[in-house]
Amino acid sequence: MFDRRGPTFFELARQALSSTEKGYDLLAPKFEYTPFRTPDDLLVQVAPHIGPVDDALDVACGTGAGVRMLKPLAKRITGVDMSAGMLEEAERLCAEAPGVAELRFVQGDARDMPFEDAFDVAVTFGANGHILPADEPAFFGSIYKALKPGGRFLLLTHANPGPLHPFWWAARGFNAAMHVRNAVIDPPFVMFYLTMTWPMVREPLEAAGFEVEARHGLFTFPYTGGILVVATKPA
Ligand SMILES: C[S@@+](CC[C@H](N)C(=O)[O-])C[C@H]1O[C@@H](n2cnc3c(N)ncnc32)[C@H](O)[C@@H]1O
Repeated sequence: MFDRRGPTFFELARQALSSTEKGYDLLAPKFEYTPFRTPDDLLVQVAPHIGPVDDALDVACGTGAGVRMLKPLAKRITGVDMSAGMLEEAERLCAEAPGVAELRFVQGDARDMPFEDAFDVAVTFGANGHILPADEPAFFGSIYKALKPGGRFLLLTHANPGPLHPFWWAARGFNAAMHVRNAVIDPPFVMFYLTMTWPMVREPLEAAGFEVEARHGLFTFPYTGGILVVATKPA
């Protein structure tokens, strides 16, 4: 799961004791070698659900794994992330990747992006846990505003495994530790498991204005199949 080129335990601990933004700045040079980077074998399963588009947006793009998947599919791609360090890596890694799309990287908060009616498709990978439930209206609203009418937002998620599964207990234990960490250390590091699970995520997406559909069986987690949520902004 961890690569020897990835961060040491102490580097990860230092990251977790920083803010979300600073933590990712610190992790950026080694991020590609962590299990937090969305794996390519998962991304290739999403690509056929996108098809050729003009303008694509990767929300919380990190080091650009999603941008690289999109590069042969889109004419122009924008990657947004709050961490300047992650964007620096993304720019370097995506320039060399196959595809001819024009690339642009923007530092910003996914909950308040400066785009309106600009994209045919938006994706986000590996960032669900960084958005607090209270911030979901702003997050989904910001993506909705960024899409052109008829544009689609693709979100990878899974079902909540429930308390009969050991993962549920591990995730709840991690979340409890994060709540304690954030109660005693400021600024907070926002990272929680079991967020935006299906079907719970349907309600805030619909409240933002999307028409929502779920596609099952794309990839597997240890306890459940992955679900690709396709949320469409009405034309
Ligand atoms: C686990 S990484 C995933 C990166 C990449 N999408 C991938 O799948 O490999 C999460 C990313 O979300 C970014 N992030 C977290 N909260 C954010 C926010 N509110 N706005 C923009 N980016 C955010 C972090 O800086 C980090 O790069």
